[in-house]
Amino acid sequence: MSAPAAPLAGKVALITGAARAQGRSHALRLARDGAAIIAVDICAHIGSLDGFYDLATPEDLAETVRLVEEAGGRIHAAQADVRDIDALTDAVNAGVDKFGRLDIVVANAGIFTFGEATHEVSEDAWRELMDVNVTGVWHTYKAAAPHLLAAGAGGSVIIIASLAGFKGLANVAAYTTTKHAIVGLMKVLANELGPHGIRVNTIHPNSIDTPMVKNTRTYRLFRPDLEEPKAEDAEAAFAGLNPMGKAWIEPEHVSNAVAWLAGPESYYVSGGQIPVDGGASIQ
Ligand SMILES: NC(=O)c1ccc[n+]([C@@H]2O[C@H](COP(=O)([O-])OP(=O)(O)OC[C@H]3O[C@@H](n4cnc5c(N)ncnc54)[C@H](O)[C@@H]3O)[C@@H](O)[C@H]2O)c1
Repeated sequence: MSAPAAPLAGKVALITGAARAQGRSHALRLARDGAAIIAVDICAHIGSLDGFYDLATPEDLAETVRLVEEAGGRIHAAQADVRDIDALTDAVNAGVDKFGRLDIVVANAGIFTFGEATHEVSEDAWRELMDVNVTGVWHTYKAAAPHLLAAGAGGSVIIIASLAGFKGLANVAAYTTTKHAIVGLMKVLANELGPHGIRVNTIHPNSIDTPMVKNTRTYRLFRPDLEEPKAEDAEAAFAGLNPMGKAWIEPEHVSNAVAWLAGPESYYVSGGQIPVDGGASIQ
């Protein structure tokens, strides 16, 4: 028996951090699989990322809308910060008003800072990571839950963790703590939502080809000998982080896992931690 062409036809998916990179790729994939998309992104800068990388822009979010519509999909997009429960709830409610229901949640928005010994991490950097990567994921679920439960038709909550949710990465304390924390949240939710037929899992990517890691600051981690290292200068070091020798995995491979967890073929997969990392977690 072959898989249906549109396994998510009639479903609605909320995706945070959908303006670019992995979030945009998930939006496109789930739309191609038939889901209507509620896309949320901050589209603004966050202070502790100064000197690391910039977040998405309103133009990026508009491009996600254009691409989804070009692919024949339906999308409601809103600028909202996952730290702001009121703004996020308004965005989710507006999307549900438009599409009538909510079945799938992809808690993807996140930020990444690193580089100091744990006792040297600043108060602001620590707090912003906790607020976005942990509280933001809880908020995403909190805003979605009434609609998910009201649909009464099962569903799938997919939380984007990281290799840092498996390992204890030295000099990456705050980020690593956040990605372990959301695994705890996933396990609680898998227990709470199982009786409703709603499944909850984390995905653990490593070194994905996005602005979060494709930037000078991250390259310099591996090439401190260079003032302005480029991707090619750091490529061999990144490739050495997993047994498959892949420096930066394309976002579409993470989207494949998202689509599988969102769809009917993963029914009874709940409480799982799915790596998309070329084997990095066991290296
Ligand atoms: N890139 C990697 O190598 C990698 C590896 C493991 C895990 N991850 C995780 O994957 C997820 C997606 O990251 P990405 O690689 O696409 O990075 P990215 O920085 O390109 O995308 C993240 C998106 O989230 C948005 N965002 C950030 N803070 C937000 C907030 N407070 N509210 C709403 N939106 C917000 C950004 O504007 C951006 O569009 C993150 O959770 C990240 O931690 C990434």
